[in-house]
Amino acid sequence: MANATDTKPTESTRRDFLMLATGAVGAVGLGAVVVPLVSQLAPDAQTVAAGAPIDLDLAPIAEGQAIKLFWRGKLIFVRHRTKKEIDEARAVNVASLPDPQPDQARVKQGHEEFLVVYGNCTHLGCVPLGNSPGDPKGDFDGWFCPCHGSHYDSSGRIRKGPAPLNLPIPPYAFSADTKIRIG
Ligand code: FES
Repeated sequence: MANATDTKPTESTRRDFLMLATGAVGAVGLGAVVVPLVSQLAPDAQTVAAGAPIDLDLAPIAEGQAIKLFWRGKLIFVRHRTKKEIDEARAVNVASLPDPQPDQARVKQGHEEFLVVYGNCTHLGCVPLGNSPGDPKGDFDGWFCPCHGSHYDSSGRIRKGPAPLNLPIPPYAFSADTKIRIG
């Protein structure tokens, strides 16, 4: 279980974390052969540390998988949602949500399969589970924060537990079909 202090990594931790995340993308997405290419596409640690916009290739993230990265010292989740997850997110009565927001407002039109959110629970800042295979995703196919039991749905919206708000969306835009620029 992570806590808020885990979200302020040292520079080397950030670098290691990003490299780990990048390696995972290559390994799980398209196989080990892709790793060098993905590594080249990933922003270098200095760029990330400087807070500059970062470009991210989403193609290696297979449906149902997610990656984590840091931008401006903040943890970000990027998830390639399944059709089931998208359908679930859109079937919700928005008015019933603690922080009402339609799924359509949380993704980019035409790229509904990719969800990009800040990765700290809006309760006390812990890091919810739900990115790694085998992780509990909570009751709503999103993320589960075991610290105090907050459940987020597949749109990153708070559905149950003490967290008051949805996982926020960082500034980002698609620069190509499977490429985004964060920042
Ligand atoms: S920090 Fe996530 S539920 Fe408390």
